[in-house]
Amino acid sequence: MTVKLITIFGGSGFVGRNTVRALARAGYRLRVAVRWPHTAHFLRPMGDVGQIEIVQANIRNEDSVRRALDGADGVVNLVGILYQTRRQKFADIHDDGAERIARLARRSGVATFVHMSAIGADLNSRSRYGRSKAAGEAKVREVFPDATILRPSVIFGAEDDLFNRFAGLAQIAPALPLIGGGDTRFQPVFVGDVAAAVKKCIEQPSARGRVYELGGPSIYTFKELMTYMLDTIGRRRLLVPLPFGLATFMGFFLGLWPKPLLTMDQVALLKTDNVVGRGPQRVATFADLGIQPVAMDTVVPSYLRRFRRHGQFEESAI
Ligand SMILES: NC(=O)c1ccc[n+]([C@@H]2O[C@H](COP(=O)([O-])OP(=O)(O)OC[C@H]3O[C@@H](n4cnc5c(N)ncnc54)[C@H](OP(=O)(O)O)[C@@H]3O)[C@@H](O)[C@H]2O)c1
Repeated sequence: MTVKLITIFGGSGFVGRNTVRALARAGYRLRVAVRWPHTAHFLRPMGDVGQIEIVQANIRNEDSVRRALDGADGVVNLVGILYQTRRQKFADIHDDGAERIARLARRSGVATFVHMSAIGADLNSRSRYGRSKAAGEAKVREVFPDATILRPSVIFGAEDDLFNRFAGLAQIAPALPLIGGGDTRFQPVFVGDVAAAVKKCIEQPSARGRVYELGGPSIYTFKELMTYMLDTIGRRRLLVPLPFGLATFMGFFLGLWPKPLLTMDQVALLKTDNVVGRGPQRVATFADLGIQPVAMDTVVPSYLRRFRRHGQFEESAI
């Protein structure tokens, strides 16, 4: 069998590095397309010598995307942003950038294309993030009808931006905010399961042209997630409800920082539950891929241990 070459955009990110590991273990040749190759060499030891190639590409640049796709049998697009900057707008990344990869992949004869979207992708979403993800999905589908679209809920894992961020905040702050009262529901999904789904979608012809919503085995409100995180790191903190109006006001000012803790758009996103199957149609899920998602409790304590007062040496953590 000839070893297939898969180009991965966004391979240096949180989902990306776990996907690179999963695909390298499965024996694929990988070309990881990143904006700054020198920051992505840590990926190479995940494969055998020469198995993982790092190339330069910015999905806002047509030529660099075309070069990254040259000779590829499959493509995975994991590029996404949570907030906009002067150069990186949601429309450029989630919408036009996704379309560019799909169109050029189609043109260069790529057989399989897996596109990472998100639960909350909706043309009528209150948030720009959600609208741009939906616009990207539609364009990808238009130019590459066989593309597989994955929509995860919030993703957890060793380097996540969810538990690590709030556990870090809990180390220094006496209280944590519950935006909108903390009632928004989430279905946290393990990054290893998301990576396994990407691999299955590359390999299973039945996944072509389908949309999968990926959620873990349980649904939690935001307040329950914060309580769980605090219990896990053995700290007590006040959980303070923050009405949406006030959070939006704070998001306006915090959103002016280069790497904002909170933006108005993120507050808007929090107004809608982030769980599998909210839409009117039945969507495919992990069950259709033959994957049993793991529970938070089997993974999260192992990487939140460092936030405990005495780290790994705390008695209850040994
Ligand atoms: N994490 C979650 O909870 C979650 C939930 C639902 C959906 N998703 C989706 O899953 C995907 C991966 O998310 P993640 O958490 O892994 O995000 P991440 O860690 O921020 O990774 C994003 C990746 O995109 C790359 N990137 C950004 N702008 C780029 C550009 N102009 N050209 C080329 N590459 C660019 C980044 O590389 P550099 O910045 O180094 O160039 C990085 O490798 C995204 O589409 C995200 O929307 C994530």
